[in-house]
Parts: sequence; C-alpha cells; structure tokens
Amino acid sequence: MAILKVARMGHPVLRKVARKLTAKEIESDKIQSLIENMIQTMHEYGGIGLAAPQVHESIQLAIIELDEQNDRYEGAKGQALEVYINPKITVIDTAEQAFWEGCLSVPELRGLVHRPRKIQVDYLNRKGKAKKIVAEGFLATVFQHELDHLSGMLFIQRMKEMSKLSFIDEYQRYWAKDEEDDSEGSLED
Ligand code: NI
Repeated sequence: MAILKVARMGHPVLRKVARKLTAKEIESDKIQSLIENMIQTMHEYGGIGLAAPQVHESIQLAIIELDEQNDRYEGAKGQALEVYINPKITVIDTAEQAFWEGCLSVPELRGLVHRPRKIQVDYLNRKGKAKKIVAEGFLATVFQHELDHLSGMLFIQRMKEMSKLSFIDEYQRYWAKDEEDDSEGSLED
C-alpha cells in the first residue's frame, strides 16, 4: 500500500471528464490496488472522500467514508466506507441546502455551496456489482462534491457568492458560528 500524491487546483487532471471503467478493469489488480491506496491516502489526510482524479487517475471511481464519531461532522448521518464506480446521480429533491465545503485539492479554503438536498446514486461497487443509495442532508452534499470530481468540477465552481470563499482561519473566525445562513456544518473531502 502507498500514500498517493494529491493533485491540487491548477493540475489539468482535475478538469477532465473521467472515463468509465469496464467490468474487466474493475477486477484487475491495478484498479484493486489503486482502491487500497486511495483508502490509505484518504485516511492519511483525514478526508471523508477521495476521487480518482485527485490522485491523477482520470477514471470514474471515488471512495466515501463518513464516520459518525468524527465530531467535525457532528449530527451527520454516518456512511460506511464504500467504493463508487461509474456513478450516476439522480436528483430526488431539488430543494437546496448549503454547507461549507473544503477539498484536499483546494487546500486551505472553505466555500459555501448550495446543492440539492436529496439524491440517488446508481453505481458499481469494487466487485463490479450494481448498487444504489439514496442520500440526503450532509451526505447528499458529500456525494455531489465527490462525484463532481469525476466531471472535472471543483466546489468553487458551484458557489453562488464568491464573497463566501474564505481561508480556513477566517472561515472559523467569521463564519463557522454564523446562524444567519442555512449551513449546518462543513465538509472536507
Ligand atoms: Ni474535493
């Protein structure tokens, strides 16, 4: 296993539309060991998700793990570690919610992002089996942030008000305890 280098904003790999994986590729040693290395990398950096383009692989694969015990995400519903391959998002409820987002590929920044509050994701797991999951609230935002990476999108492009783009220190000083907006927490993938 290995800790992988994370691509940062400005690297072209983060802006490409990632390609789908074939069933044969999914079961290959190459992809299975990439998955292991991505899990180790996500844990090393304390993220709650990691998409393959963030480790320089332009393929439709992402991992998400949301630990309920992590008090950074207090109140959020947990989600066990899972691998999402060739995922497709369907919006179930277009009503928007806002959370402050961060990203290992956009270090030191936080931004307030509005996204649909409830979605369904159809995907293949690491064994190539077709699965689906319905997510709402904070978890729905986590999915949309991660899967955006597979379309070459970063959270900054989803922001409505650039005045809500902040460095982490300033976010914590001026925005973290703000009750005015409808954000309920922050995420860093
Ligand atoms: Ni990200």
